[in-house]
Amino acid sequence: MVLRPLPQGYRYYYVLHPRPTIVLLTRCPNGRLNMMPASWNTPVSEEPPTVAIAVDRDSYTYECLEYHPESTINVPSSDMLDLVYRLGTVSGRDVDKIREHNIQLEESYRVSVPRWRDALASLEARVYDSIDVGEVKLYVFEILGVYVDLVFYTRWGWDFRKTNILLHGAGRNFYIVGKWIRAGKKQVE
Ligand SMILES: Cc1cc2nc3c(=O)[nH]c(=O)nc-3n(C[C@H](O)[C@H](O)[C@H](O)COP(=O)(O)O)c2cc1C
Repeated sequence: MVLRPLPQGYRYYYVLHPRPTIVLLTRCPNGRLNMMPASWNTPVSEEPPTVAIAVDRDSYTYECLEYHPESTINVPSSDMLDLVYRLGTVSGRDVDKIREHNIQLEESYRVSVPRWRDALASLEARVYDSIDVGEVKLYVFEILGVYVDLVFYTRWGWDFRKTNILLHGAGRNFYIVGKWIRAGKKQVE
């Protein structure tokens, strides 16, 4: 490799894409529920179980989380590509996205925000901590409940012979997981 400085106009963060896309479901001050895809997300700790998600302070989801600090973190399958993209291009300030797309919800056990019934998985979450960073608020959620479709989920994670998840590339471009490789047992010199 010959590494060079990033050319003008290139975005630094794409070196860390594609990224698994989740959909945050929140309870909002306008009395509605809202859904927003977020690919800037990561597990943080196991004890307690936490997940961090970067939420733009211009988004309605930010307002909703400040209003009601609970959420469900839903994992859509790749079949939901167009829907997920649409959820990420309009704001719950202007549109009732759940009604528009006839999204089916089911009650959560540990939080008062419902889960997305057609997701592959849904995590019930409460804001544990947060930090303002630039234009974003990074929310660290404590995970209070985890629900998965066990047809697709194994002890080692998703069974990609049966389903796939959405990895966000850039703009309208996504990837799916396509190839399984395994590290050798021998130590690398
Ligand atoms: C695949 C995808 C991933 C996104 N990831 C994020 C993210 O991690 N954080 C964020 O603030 N916005 C993200 N966005 C943009 C928001 O989803 C978008 O601004 C949305 O319209 C906000 O909705 P709201 O105003 O109803 O909250 C993403 C959009 C897409 C399509």
